[in-house]
Amino acid sequence: MRIAFFSTQPYDRFFFEQENAEGKFSFQFYETHLGPHIVHAVEDVDAVCVFVNDKINQEVLSVLADRGVKVIALRCAGFNNVDLEAAKKYGIRVCRVPAYSPEAVAEHAVAMLLTLNRKTHKAYNRVREQNFSLNGLLGFNIHGRTIGVIGTGKIGKAFCRIMLGFGCKVWAYDVFEDLDLRNAGVTYVPLNQIFEQADIISLHCPLMPETKHLINEESLSKMKEGVVLINTSRGGLVDTKAVVEALKSQKLGGIAIDVYEQEEKIFFKDLSTVVIQDDVLQRLTSFPNVLLTAHQAFFTDEALTQIAKITLRNVKEGLQKTVDKLDPAFLV
Ligand code: NAI
Repeated sequence: MRIAFFSTQPYDRFFFEQENAEGKFSFQFYETHLGPHIVHAVEDVDAVCVFVNDKINQEVLSVLADRGVKVIALRCAGFNNVDLEAAKKYGIRVCRVPAYSPEAVAEHAVAMLLTLNRKTHKAYNRVREQNFSLNGLLGFNIHGRTIGVIGTGKIGKAFCRIMLGFGCKVWAYDVFEDLDLRNAGVTYVPLNQIFEQADIISLHCPLMPETKHLINEESLSKMKEGVVLINTSRGGLVDTKAVVEALKSQKLGGIAIDVYEQEEKIFFKDLSTVVIQDDVLQRLTSFPNVLLTAHQAFFTDEALTQIAKITLRNVKEGLQKTVDKLDPAFLV
């Protein structure tokens, strides 16, 4: 079973090779994204393995089908970057890793909230410069605050549980309500109630046409002064230009994001010697109350081990056509 990996980083190689110790698979690793510019180079493989910023559109799928690729294995949960209808048309199976470690992402969301609020990133730098002043580091207690959680699937649920442990009032909005969460003390409320009354809002729903720019000028205008936003889900959930305006007017008290709508040209690369052309990103990161990490929420040892294990299982089942019809890993 031959697999070509795109958007490969050294840690991908490490975890996949570790999982392939018996040598059942043969791997080709490419650093570049998979897209129309490179798809013609795909040869002699049964499957391609891609990540969040590879664009698998109709054009790419048609070439992959010509080249005999049978399976597209996403080594992530989200699948908004794959044209599933086109994959179906070309008879290519598409699989993903629906759950590898929801706690990894939920814990990162909490880490971002605490960092943004208590400014530990600034304190760390200050004390290294022998600056022991506390001015400018003032935060607020998370305990007792109202947290609005949008999307209570696997990650949102893990996040809700942590926030209940902090002693927060946890409000949630989802198209499906989770009984366990309700029993644990979470209250499901209308989306507008979260926008209008929550002190902190954390996004955990997928990016779909209905959720694109869920956070926009209108929803931001409804929010409390000083509201804090956390987005570890997908960049497209947030209209970044509207966020920049809300930061300038001080409507937003802060925002922590692990995802960014235009991230594919920027994230997972060292651009420290490059002049970045994305003015919106540059403006965003110029605010003192913005915390950005580069799609790092999933990045734990446990999560990467699970991702490699499940992805290779998916490829094997997809190629051997032993897929269970109800398996949530298989989208096509
Ligand atoms: P999930 O599928 O378990 O949960 C998603 C939840 O969103 C479901 O309960 C669903 O009913 C709900 N939902 C769907 N439409 C909605 C809407 N219009 N409004 C409110 N809720 C809605 O997915 P999971 O595993 O919890 O992941 C959530 C998202 O997190 C993924 O879609 C992915 O984009 C992102 N993610 C980010 C990672 C990172 O490293 N930053 C890593 C893994 C996932």
